[in-house]
Amino acid sequence: MAKETAIITGGASGIGLAIAQELMSQGIQVVACDLNEEALNKLCQANELYDGKKVDVTDEEQVKDFVDYVVSKHGRIDRSFHVAGASKPGLIIEQPLEDWNFTVNLVLNGVFLFTKYVGQQMKKQKGGKIVNISSLNAHVPMFFGAAYSSAKAGVEMLTKNAALELADYGINVNVILPGLVNTPLTAGLTGDETINGRFKERIPAKRGGDPKEIAQPAVFLSSEGASYINGTSLVVDGGWEVTGYPDLRV
Ligand SMILES: NC(=O)c1ccc[n+]([C@@H]2O[C@H](COP(=O)([O-])OP(=O)(O)OC[C@H]3O[C@@H](n4cnc5c(N)ncnc54)[C@H](O)[C@@H]3O)[C@@H](O)[C@H]2O)c1
Repeated sequence: MAKETAIITGGASGIGLAIAQELMSQGIQVVACDLNEEALNKLCQANELYDGKKVDVTDEEQVKDFVDYVVSKHGRIDRSFHVAGASKPGLIIEQPLEDWNFTVNLVLNGVFLFTKYVGQQMKKQKGGKIVNISSLNAHVPMFFGAAYSSAKAGVEMLTKNAALELADYGINVNVILPGLVNTPLTAGLTGDETINGRFKERIPAKRGGDPKEIAQPAVFLSSEGASYINGTSLVVDGGWEVTGYPDLRV
């Protein structure tokens, strides 16, 4: 029996998967959800401490059922990482409302729904740790990213509100703002030589981060060592915030 149970949304790829690996290396049971059922099944077969279910984080019924499933199968939720995200890019004066809504619904509403149902369970248990994944774009705008950046800024403020409302129940809620991380999500951008060069000019570390470099601080924020940290934003970006975002128009 694992010593603790952790939920990870978007836990079948990139940063979510790196968080899962970090937690499993500490003997913690992971229950991941994702849209990618095939990847979830493979990970379940390969890892004793990995359980996974197909869930769309924007669907309230599915989110509620998933949280109920985790509690009925694993007893409690000690930590919850809200990572799932993607976007439909576009310039503001050209973007269809449908694309704007897709992005805001996934990035912001998905975190709201998980905070709501995980928060209810953690209140019952009298404690727990929530870590949301926002983006450097919560602080720094980017071309084609108005919906994404606005929604990520919303995730940062939602985190602070949740910290305020849930502190009475022994729940800590913090948020990580990653810069450029090498995952399937950014492969299209970093694969373009011109854009990749512009990123490197701006990032003092001169490289994108490895997903593990986001997972380790995220897991720290969910640990006992972070018991007095609440409502905080941690930028993890190789120093990028100090230099601003590159022009993505080629
Ligand atoms: N990679 C970066 O540079 C970077 C930078 C800042 C923030 N982020 C954020 O980190 C998070 C993870 O990104 P990543 O780079 O690991 O991407 P990724 O594409 O590797 O992983 C995202 C996962 O979320 C899942 N997902 C998408 N929509 C979903 C839905 N509706 N319901 C359930 N699961 C869904 C996908 O299937 C995928 O497995 C995202 O929120 C992203 O915005 C990434």
